[in-house]
Amino acid sequence: MRKKIVAGNWKMNKNLAETGNLLGELKGRVDQIDNVEVIVAPTFTNLYYSFEQLRETTITVAAQNMHQAANGAFTGEISADMLKSIGVETVILGHSERRAHFGETDAILKEKVVTAIQKEMTVIFCFGEELNDRKSDKHFDLVASQLKNALFDLDKSAWSQIILAYEPVWAIGTGETASPKQAQEMHAFIRKTIAKAFDQQIADQVSILYGGSVKPANAKEIFAKQDVDGGLIGGAALDAESFEAIVRAI
Ligand code: 13P
Repeated sequence: MRKKIVAGNWKMNKNLAETGNLLGELKGRVDQIDNVEVIVAPTFTNLYYSFEQLRETTITVAAQNMHQAANGAFTGEISADMLKSIGVETVILGHSERRAHFGETDAILKEKVVTAIQKEMTVIFCFGEELNDRKSDKHFDLVASQLKNALFDLDKSAWSQIILAYEPVWAIGTGETASPKQAQEMHAFIRKTIAKAFDQQIADQVSILYGGSVKPANAKEIFAKQDVDGGLIGGAALDAESFEAIVRAI
């Protein structure tokens, strides 16, 4: 059985006090929930604090990014070892905002994934097409190439450390979601692509999350789809009540 996962990507939101408030609420709402792994990804400055706050809970803390190099002259960057030294062992890589605003290419992401895997971290790998790709019916090709370029040179053994997150760019922060049918169709395609490149067992085991305007009102029907194993939540993860409702929609 593959894992059901709901992850909150807080992006560049919440200062220290606000982080404390939200974590306090989440501890009362989404700790110890059966059959679903809950992950939150606060900003770097609040990661250690968040890890400490959630230490006794079942909620996992993830980083939103990391650098591919082990260490060195990379002003402003954060390494895998730094994350691990504060207890953070999960990292989101490849988010479309990193690709669009910070020049993260498939080649850079491949290096980041390799580093994270070598450092025994879990990677939430994000990918997804833009509206133009979908309009021109290139969304399957685009997604296949993002997966191939960043992930297909990995050893089979690496896949136990990978969670996939399909996030169509046109659905992020727009209020527009992929329909449950569109999500299922793409998730099934992703699984088939992985089965071809690796094997059926890996494809069956990997959790594939959907991200893009998931809200309490639409989570249940999206999560009900066979190949959707949970969600990567942006805006609705910033409010404890709506995040809890989404977690409970699994
Ligand atoms: P929204 O849920 O705000 O659309 O963001 C999705 C996302 O980018 C999660 O990583």
